[in-house]
Amino acid sequence: MRVETLTITICGIAAAILLGLGGCAPQKAEPVKTVQIPDGEVDPAVWGKGYPTEYELWKKTEEPTPAGKSKYKRGFDADRITYDKLSEFPYMALLFNGWGFGVEYNEPRGHAYMVRDQLEIDASRLKAGGVCLTCKTPYAPRLQKELGMDYYKKPFKEVLAHIPEKQRTLGVACIDCHDNRDLTLKLSRGFTLQAALKDMGVDESKLTRQEMRSLVCAQCHVTYTIPKDAEMKSVGVFFPWQGSTWGNITIENIIKKIRSDPAYGEWKQGVTGFKLGFIRHPEFEMFSNSSVHWKAGAACADCHMPYTRVGAFKVSDHRVMSPLKGDMKACLQCHSEKPEWLRDQVTAIQDRTVSLMVRSGYATATAAKLFEKVHAAQAAGKSIDKALYDRAKDLYEEAFYRCVFVGAENSLGFHNPTETLRILGDATAFAAKAEALLRQALTKAGEDVPLTVNLELNKYLDQRGEKKLKFNPNVEIKDPYGVQVRF
Ligand code: HEC
Ligand code: HEC
Ligand code: HEC
Ligand code: HEC
Repeated sequence: MRVETLTITICGIAAAILLGLGGCAPQKAEPVKTVQIPDGEVDPAVWGKGYPTEYELWKKTEEPTPAGKSKYKRGFDADRITYDKLSEFPYMALLFNGWGFGVEYNEPRGHAYMVRDQLEIDASRLKAGGVCLTCKTPYAPRLQKELGMDYYKKPFKEVLAHIPEKQRTLGVACIDCHDNRDLTLKLSRGFTLQAALKDMGVDESKLTRQEMRSLVCAQCHVTYTIPKDAEMKSVGVFFPWQGSTWGNITIENIIKKIRSDPAYGEWKQGVTGFKLGFIRHPEFEMFSNSSVHWKAGAACADCHMPYTRVGAFKVSDHRVMSPLKGDMKACLQCHSEKPEWLRDQVTAIQDRTVSLMVRSGYATATAAKLFEKVHAAQAAGKSIDKALYDRAKDLYEEAFYRCVFVGAENSLGFHNPTETLRILGDATAFAAKAEALLRQALTKAGEDVPLTVNLELNKYLDQRGEKKLKFNPNVEIKDPYGVQVRF
C-alpha cells in the first residue's frame, strides 16, 4: 500500500498515483472540437461530437465482459449464460414468491441494457408502473415533472411511450451525470437523490468532486421505496435514508423507515401472506457506511471508471464494469500488490459473504415455511399463542430485510466486508430465534413439527412466469466451505 496516496489530493487520490505514468488526470474537460451541447440535450451522439473518446467507451457497455475473471459476478460475461439469481440462490425463489422478483430476477448487465432488459423481463416485474423508469432512462426527471402522479401510477409501457421513439431504449446517458456546459459532474435526479440528501441534512453546495464521483452513481445504485395507495397503485418513490447521516446510512434505519408505514408494503409474500417492503441494489449505502475504501477517500468511479489511456488521451473509462473484468487495473492506481493477490482478496471476501448469506437465507426461508404451517393450523381451528406469534413475526421481518439487503447488494461483500458480515450475522440470529418461537407456538397448539422443515423449493423454482422458467442447477452458488445448509 502506498501511503502517500492518502495525502496527495491535488489531482484526486486515484490520479495521484498516475503521476508516474505521465502527469495528472484530466482536471478540466476540453472538447476535441468546439461543440456546444444544447441545454437539455439527451442524445449521447451529440455530446460525442465534442468528446468522442468518452462516447466510444460509453458505447462499449453494450459489449459483454470477458468470462472467467470473476467467480461470482458473471451476469454479463461473454459466455452468454443467463445467470438467474433465483437459480444461483434458490432460497430467494421461496422468499420472493408472490411478485415479480420471485418470477424473473437476473444478475446485472452492462449499462446499455438497462431499459432493454426491462422490456425483456417477465411483465410481472413492471407492475409498479412508470416509476420503474426512475433509475433507467435519462428522461426520468423530465417525465416525473411533466406527468406528476401519472408518472408513478400509469402502466410502464404507457409512460415509456412518452419518450421520443429514437431514445426509448437509451440507458444512462451523459446528461445523467454531466453539466452540458463544462462537463463537470452534476446530479440530474432532484426528485430522488437530492431529496434524500436533504433529508439527511447534506448541503449540496458543499459536496466535493470526489464525493460527486460516487454520488452520480448513487442516483441509481441505491435502495428505494415505492409507496402505494389503497388500491396498491404506486404514488411516489423515495430513498429510505431519513434518520441516517452522511457516511452512516444503516440497515437498521432503513428497516425502521420501511416498517413505519403500511403504505411502504409493496407486495404480499406468497408463503407467509405478509405485506412487506423491499430493498434494491444498495451499493451506495453499503459502500459509504464507513467501509475501509470510503474512509480512505475512494469513490465508485475510482474502481469502476479508472483512468485509461486511449491514443494520446487519458480519460475516465466510461465502459463502466467490474474491476475484475479490467484485470484489476483500477486497483493498481492505489495498490502496489500484484493483480492476482488483489483478485484473491476479492474472492476470499466474496466466499465468506456467500457462506453467511446462504446460511441466513435458508434460516429465513425455514421461518417462512413455519409461518405457513402456523397459518394452516389456524385455518384448521387451532389457537396459536399471540405473544409468541407476534415476536416471531417481528424477528422474521428483521431477518428478511437484512437478507434482502445483502442479496441485492451487487459486490457480494467487497464494498464493505465487515458491515456485510455484521448484517448477515444478525439476520441468521433473528431467523433462528423466529424459528424457535414458531416451533414453540406450534407445539403448544398440539402440532407436530418435523426436525427438518421441507422448503418445497421446486414449487417456487420451476414453471415461473410467462417463460415457464426453471431451476438451473449449473449456476447454483453453494456454500464455498461445504457447510450443508440446504435442507
Ligand atoms: C440511471 C441509473 C444508473 C446510473 C446513474 C448508474 N448506473 Fe450502474 N447500472 C444501472 C442499472 C439499471 C444496471 C443494470 C443494467 C442491466 O442489467 O440491464 C447497472 C449496472 C452496473 C454495473 C454492472 C455492469 C456489468 O457489466 O455487469 C456496474 C459495475 C455499475 N452499474 C456501476 C455504476 C457506477 C460505478 C456508476 C457511476 C459512475 C453507475 N453505475 C451509474 C443503473 C445506473
Ligand atoms: C475499492 C473499489 C470499489 C469501489 C470504491 C466500489 N466498487 Fe463496486 N465493486 C468492486 C468490486 C471488486 C466488485 C466485485 C466485482 C466482481 O466480483 O466481478 C464490485 C461490484 C460492483 C457491482 C456489480 C458488478 C457486476 O459485474 O455485476 C456494482 C453494480 C458496483 N460494484 C457498483 C458500485 C458503486 C455504485 C459504487 C459506489 C457507491 C462502488 N461500486 C464502489 C469494487 C469497488
Ligand atoms: C454514470 C455517470 C456518467 C455518464 C453516464 C457519463 N459520464 Fe463522463 N464522467 C463521469 C465521471 C464520474 C467522470 C470523472 C469526473 C471527475 O473526476 O471529475 C467523467 C468524466 C468525463 C469527462 C472528463 C474527462 C475524463 O474522461 O475524465 C468527459 C469529457 C466526459 N466524462 C464525457 C462524457 C460523455 C460524452 C458521456 C456520454 C457519452 C459521459 N461522459 C457519460 C461519469 C459519467
Ligand atoms: C483510491 C485508491 C484505492 C483504490 C482504487 C483501491 N484501493 Fe484498496 N485500499 C485503499 C486504501 C487507502 C486502503 C486502506 C489501506 C490500509 O489501511 O492499509 C485499501 C485497503 C484494501 C484492502 C484491505 C481491506 C481491509 O478491509 O482491510 C483490500 C483487500 C483492498 N484494498 C483491495 C482493493 C481492490 C481489489 C481494489 C480494486 C477493485 C482496490 N482495493 C482499489 C485504496 C484503494
